[in-house]
Amino acid sequence: KELNTLNKTTLLQGKRVLITAGPTREPLDPVRYLTNKSSGKMGYALAEAARMAGAKITLVSGPVPLTCHPDIQCIHVETGKTMLNTVMENVSNTDIFIAAAAVVDYHVEEISQKKIKKTADTLDLHLIKNIDILATVANLPHPPFTVGFAAETHNVLTFARKKLKEKKVNLILANDVSQKHAGFDAEENAITAIWNRGEDAFPLSKKTLLAQHLIEFIAQRYYEKNPT
Ligand code: PMT
Repeated sequence: KELNTLNKTTLLQGKRVLITAGPTREPLDPVRYLTNKSSGKMGYALAEAARMAGAKITLVSGPVPLTCHPDIQCIHVETGKTMLNTVMENVSNTDIFIAAAAVVDYHVEEISQKKIKKTADTLDLHLIKNIDILATVANLPHPPFTVGFAAETHNVLTFARKKLKEKKVNLILANDVSQKHAGFDAEENAITAIWNRGEDAFPLSKKTLLAQHLIEFIAQRYYEKNPT
């Protein structure tokens, strides 16, 4: 396909896009969990922008109070393990995988069946690392075009370049989450896209608009790698 002749509403026509969004929750006991500040807005905006570009979308979402367009297959999950399992159940025939979720990196070794009592002054939690969903997908024998985020508070581009190589993904979207009004639980975001042939900056803008630019950019990189 000639990119410059592509209409924006048909840019991803016939393509399947799988997206993760929002936070995950790792239970500690029946009433407590570990989580983070992800609102899901970035991932949902990407899903909506990809839908508007003509793609068929599956969105695997952590618990957020957002609604999906009826044409988007939205699957709700809580833990990193269920997000991983759901992604793996839906990844075959996926053309583009975008990991926008902020997956909690650790889970407790044993979830307490009863509410943990606050009798002791200190409490040790034994945490075990969660499997990396993005790296698992990127290392499949026939992986889709994989897009990961890098959320960093310092050395953003250095860590992001490292993630591109280590996770073997096609594209990393780096966001500096130390910036006020950007990243986690904000209306806006700013991104530096990093791939093996270059870097491109997307300045601070509303996540809905940014997502449209990012989907166009992801489609360009996808067709560069998979000419039709
Ligand atoms: O949800 P919002 O409030 O709109 O905020 C958007 C966002 C800041 C959450 C989003 O833009 C973002 O950066 N998402 C990724 C957050 C993150 O956890 O980044 P990370 O650098 O820890 O992880 C790197 C990549 O690996 C991410 O694509 C992440 O989805 C993926 N990952 C991480 C751990 C894991 N177990 N599985 C994964 O797939």
